[in-house]
Amino acid sequence: MTNDASNGNASSRREFVKTSSLIAGGLIAAPFLSRANYFSGADEVIKVALIGCGGRGRGAAKQALLSNPKVQLVAMADAFRDNLDDSYNILVTESPNQKVSIKSRVVVPEENKFSGFDGYLKAIPLADVVILATTPGFRPIHFEEAIKQGKHVFMEKPVATDPAGIKKVLETAEIAKQKKLNVVVGLQRHYQNSYRELFKQKNKIGDITSAQAWWNNDGVWVRERKYNQTEMEYQMRNWYYFVWLCGDHITEQHVHNLDVVNWFKEGYPVRAQGMGGRQVRKGKNHGEIFDHHYVEFQYADGSVLNSQCRHIPGTMSKVDELLIGTKGKIQCGAANIIDPKGKVIYQFDLKNENNAYQTEHDELFAAISKGEYKFADAENGAKSTMTSILGRMATYTGQAVEWDQALNSGLDLQPKVYDWNTSPPVVPNDEGYYAAAIPGVTKYFEHVAKS
Ligand SMILES: NC(=O)c1ccc[n+]([C@@H]2O[C@H](COP(=O)([O-])OP(=O)(O)OC[C@H]3O[C@@H](n4cnc5c(N)ncnc54)[C@H](O)[C@@H]3O)[C@@H](O)[C@H]2O)c1
Repeated sequence: MTNDASNGNASSRREFVKTSSLIAGGLIAAPFLSRANYFSGADEVIKVALIGCGGRGRGAAKQALLSNPKVQLVAMADAFRDNLDDSYNILVTESPNQKVSIKSRVVVPEENKFSGFDGYLKAIPLADVVILATTPGFRPIHFEEAIKQGKHVFMEKPVATDPAGIKKVLETAEIAKQKKLNVVVGLQRHYQNSYRELFKQKNKIGDITSAQAWWNNDGVWVRERKYNQTEMEYQMRNWYYFVWLCGDHITEQHVHNLDVVNWFKEGYPVRAQGMGGRQVRKGKNHGEIFDHHYVEFQYADGSVLNSQCRHIPGTMSKVDELLIGTKGKIQCGAANIIDPKGKVIYQFDLKNENNAYQTEHDELFAAISKGEYKFADAENGAKSTMTSILGRMATYTGQAVEWDQALNSGLDLQPKVYDWNTSPPVVPNDEGYYAAAIPGVTKYFEHVAKS
């Protein structure tokens, strides 16, 4: 499939016939027709552009290529050329025992490799489907551009780092729906067999009155400052530790668990209060994020989600969700349901578990190749990301924060200009340390205390 209007008469005619019948059937509104919706050619390719060529980006690109033999990777964009080259080289290097060969479908000539902040603008037009896997601070503008250009999207979580970004994603999600562009968000538990089955069986526990969610482990990498880096380059490389880029770990990773509870509750919290801080993240390379958050989220029906996430080496590891209902509990990690006495009343057969990272691409590309509109994950992706941001605003301020207040706070952490020589929104003090939020001092509309 291509967006090139000069694709030949057969394709144009096929498109016209299919489009006309859909308009006649009243299934779509004529002003929003997009060529990307109507892939149906047996011999055409589905062209993919990868924006953000790090670990997850190349993983997602590989999964896209494995999902359907028509898929070709045709363009790559990354802020840094070395990251792009590393991912390209990994994608075209296959081990002898690899079951399905993909390297012949990595068709990215030199002129389709783009580095810098504006690479996405050049890569997106070349594709039918765009994979957005940069650091999350950029997701709103990349998603907006992809949908503006009529592309289907796979985008990684989280989908923003601040409420202004969430609003942009919500607005863009609406446009994607109107244009009938498939959007899958990498909250992959929605594509995991055990979670899908537990969701189907959730009535067994009655009404959900409370829940717990955990993302506790040692934490992640640190990328040291290198000689001659500008402050912008340093933060872009060591992005996990800067809220404007990462959102803090409550957003970056714990969003998965918060999202599961929202999914099973079929709603989003209305307020949050909590506590958090930095016990061990005290170095110059630890930026401004916390290493632990504990948040009590409240839903409109009065039920509560107790959420904890911790990144402290040497402490107990647990990544899981528990839903507590009037008639029992769903234990997601164990993939089972127990009654109030602890008796297992449903057990998912773990032999039927799947690789959800692969399934999300299999299902997305199956829909696209059949010309079907099936996936509209962006709104939930935005609201679950907003849940995590609400939690962060509660732990940073030490105040109870309402959903509407947070979403409408106007908090926008992004720089006005993306440029290697521009000063990022936070800078270190004279000793090289960054200011972190201080509960009781930091205001909900600030990202860190102005000290
Ligand atoms: N669903 C999951 O389980 C899962 C797992 C891992 C990562 N992720 C998500 O994937 C995203 C990327 O994580 P990662 O582990 O690949 O990080 P990474 O650091 O390995 O890769 C990020 C890449 O994005 C590039 N980049 C940053 N800003 C850019 C911009 N403006 N334009 C173009 N490229 C840009 C970086 O240079 C880097 O190469 C994150 O949002 C992360 O949460 C999701």
